[in-house]
Amino acid sequence: MEIITVKNAQQGSQKAFNLLAQNLQAGAKVLGLATGSTPVELYKLIIASDLDFTDITTINLDEYVGLAPQDPQSYHYFMQKQLFAYKQFKQSFIPDGATPDLQNATKQYDQIIDENPIDFQILGIGQNGHIGFNEPQTSFNLKTHVTDLTDSTIAANARFFADNEQVPTQAISMGIASIMPSKQIVLMAWGADKATAIAQMVNGPITENCPASVLQQHPHATVIIDDAAAAKL
Ligand code: F6R
Repeated sequence: MEIITVKNAQQGSQKAFNLLAQNLQAGAKVLGLATGSTPVELYKLIIASDLDFTDITTINLDEYVGLAPQDPQSYHYFMQKQLFAYKQFKQSFIPDGATPDLQNATKQYDQIIDENPIDFQILGIGQNGHIGFNEPQTSFNLKTHVTDLTDSTIAANARFFADNEQVPTQAISMGIASIMPSKQIVLMAWGADKATAIAQMVNGPITENCPASVLQQHPHATVIIDDAAAAKL
């Protein structure tokens, strides 16, 4: 696990962008994408760049259960607003959280990942150490699955909703076993709220109590964090 510490999200996103550009130049064709506040600066850099993504497939980590793609709180909507409306990609996949057949949707998503192995996976991290929506205690062996969000994740996500009652309690998420085969993983984290999770991920035991700790086993994982997120290392 390579750790890169930077002053702020701006600098860190630039480093992540440079890594992405290198990977594209080396032939990467499939990007794993995240939502949330962490990758927003990186998406701005992608939009502002003259890099060509028309041959690139994207696969998002997760989606809330029960939200239609056009719902402003859905991750479909987020991706449209933050990236896809401005940059053309070959094809983009996001789990279908609105389907009545969630089990089938998880199977189909695993098939999509099998057919389009991820070259470059972007990750954020939850304050409880989750990656994707793999909450603490989720088996490292799971692929795409439906998961109950923890109270702390629901509370952290409430900032995007009018009130706590509206925050979805379930999500479809790529599992650790879907994320780990990615050739290169870049996890970013900004701010003091992430410092404990970062310290556990980097220096703690590899345990399902801190899902991100599994990245210690990944051969090409790069962690880009600002000073505040690095404070407990
Ligand atoms: C989002 C995702 C989550 C977030 C994490 C951090 O697709 O998979 O794991 O990366 O919850 O969220 P932010 O970036 O909002 O702090």
